Order: sequence, then C-alpha cells, then structure tokens
Amino acid sequence: DKGIYPYYMLKEIDEQPVVMRRLMERYFDANGQALVGKAILDEMRAADQIYIIAAGTSYHAGLAGARMFEQWAQKPTQVYLSSEFAYEQPLLVEKPFFIFLSQSGETADSREVLQNINQAGYHSLTLTNVEKSTLWREATYALPLLAGPEIAVASTKAYVAQVTLQAILAYALVDSQVANLDLQDELSEITVGIQGIIDDKETFQAVADELLVPETTHSAFYIGRGVDSTVALEAALKLKEISYVQAEGFAAGELKHGTLALIEEETPVMALITQPKTAGLVRGNLSETTARGSHAFTIVTKALAQDGDGYVLPDTNPLLAPLLSVIPAQLLAYYTSLGRGLDVDRPRNLAKSVTVQ
Ligand code: F6R
Repeated sequence: DKGIYPYYMLKEIDEQPVVMRRLMERYFDANGQALVGKAILDEMRAADQIYIIAAGTSYHAGLAGARMFEQWAQKPTQVYLSSEFAYEQPLLVEKPFFIFLSQSGETADSREVLQNINQAGYHSLTLTNVEKSTLWREATYALPLLAGPEIAVASTKAYVAQVTLQAILAYALVDSQVANLDLQDELSEITVGIQGIIDDKETFQAVADELLVPETTHSAFYIGRGVDSTVALEAALKLKEISYVQAEGFAAGELKHGTLALIEEETPVMALITQPKTAGLVRGNLSETTARGSHAFTIVTKALAQDGDGYVLPDTNPLLAPLLSVIPAQLLAYYTSLGRGLDVDRPRNLAKSVTVQ
C-alpha cells in the first residue's frame, strides 16, 4: 500500500534510510564486525577472481561494488551483464567465484548464467531482495537485501541495498585495520546523510523544473570519473526510464572523444564530483560543456565543493559515495517524470521483472 504517497517510487526512495538500518542490524555484530557467514568468506578468499553478474540497475550496483572488492579486499573483480555473459562466456580464471545481484531473483538472463555455471561446478552467492526466488534457490549461497517489496518499476532502494551489502562483504574480507575504515560507523553516517537529502526533496523538484524543462529538454548527460562514472550510468538510466528524456551517463574523460558534439545551448549536464583524486579533472570536463552553452548542475561532496555548485552531499569514504550521490539522481528522475505528467511507477514498455531472454 502506498499510503500517503502519490507513487511507490517516492515511498521507496523515502524508505532507504530504514533499509540501511535494517542491513546494519542484520549484518554487523555488537563489535562492528561484519556477519556474512564463514563459508562464503572462505570461498571468496580462495577465489582467483570474483565475477559479478547482473542486469540494469543491479549491474550498476555491481560496478560500484567491484571497486570495493578490488581496493579494500585486493580481490580482482569483473562485472558482466548477464545478457552478454550467458551467450558469450569470457575465458574464466581457474578458481572463479560468482556473485549474482538481482532485486527480483528472477531475471531470465541471470538465471541462464547461473544454470551454466552450476553445470560447470562453480560456486556462487546471490544477493537478492526476494527470498526463495530462483536465483536464491539455485545459487550455492544467498543473502537477503532486506529492502522490502519494491513495487515501482524504477529500482531505487534495491540499488542502495546492493551497494551496501557488497560493501559489507568486501569489508568482511579484510582486516579492518588494513581498510582503515569503521564501516558500521560510516554507514550510520551515510544513513543520516541520505535522510538529509530526502528531507531536501523539494529542492530537486525545483531543479528538475528548471534543468529538465518539459517542453524543451529532450536529452541530458550525467558525467563523473571513477566510481562516479558508474553512478552516472545509474542516474541516466533512472532519468530515461521514467521521464523518457534521452539520457547518457559516462566517464567524464570520454566527453571529448565524441559526445561533446551533442552539447547544445541549454543541454543539461549533471556532474557527479565525489572523488578527491579526479574532482579537478571532472570540473575541467564540465567546463568544456559550459563553454558550448550547456546547463551544468554539480552534485558534489562537501570537501570538494566550490561556490556555484548545485547540490552539496556530506563527505564519506570515496567508494561509498554512490550511496549518497544516487539519491539526488533518483529524486531528479522522479520529479522530471512527475512534471511531465507521466505514470512514474509504470513507465511504458517496461516490466518490473524481466523473465524473457
Ligand atoms: C531499472 C530496473 C532494471 C532492473 C533490471 C534487473 O530501474 O529496475 O534495470 O534493475 O531489470 O532486475 P533484477 O535486479 O530484478 O535482476
């Protein structure tokens, strides 16, 4: 029941702090140690490489998660679209371990991959929101995302849950001294930060009206570097699927290799700037678009903020920044769709769970 909410999507965006707290309660002990099961961790430690398999928004969550497995746990990790992997399997390492990410646990292409790897005798872990779903039942191990039912076609809280649970897994693989991070503490602060962004939602209604003008805006861009480039993909997907604005998300450094040709007067370019190492470079890329008349909007963490920035996020560990930066993108997509009088929860041509290949 969506209760007081006009659309499930807004309800599900609002639920994200509760989902974060639920995950922390379930997956940390009283001392802040991650609780994910010894067998899973042993298998991940023994693997030469982790393969993350997913589709759509879950794939984008995997792209963010892979960086934590690599940078915190020093575990080589590749992320594949299940619709590609299923029909053209890459050459595998000797000891692979598979992680399936899926809100529904029923995505047909992901099921196909799981069937293939089961036949080959490889082990896997599914992270899904639906216990007893096919991907839950058929994987060696499964952990719940605990996001609660997600009804809106556009996935929001499942993404946040997937990034969070991957962070917990990656953290569980390392000695916390090495990671130099108290993950439980950091996730608690992020939860407060997410709530703060949600409390600011009217800001995004105003930004959507001004930046993504219903009569004139037909295309938009999200750019970022490092993990921000993965959030750019998710942000663009959210916008296009519910507002029908043609949106592209990509690594900011690629702009000048072709896409810059698409920038016209008033083209919205949203830049995600949460990574200290590349903030200056992204600003440079953004100014190449404003020089051609783009309408720029920056979403930036506090320590990197400058005068004139669009929206300022709280600071956090750089690899956890997607948990914060995705929220403005969800709200911008929501209000753009709403402003165009569209059915936010049920965009044309799409199904919540894709059970065809
Ligand atoms: C986009 C969206 C889809 C799903 C994709 C995978 O908002 O919801 O892109 O993420 O169809 O679905 P699951 O996660 O159920 O495997």
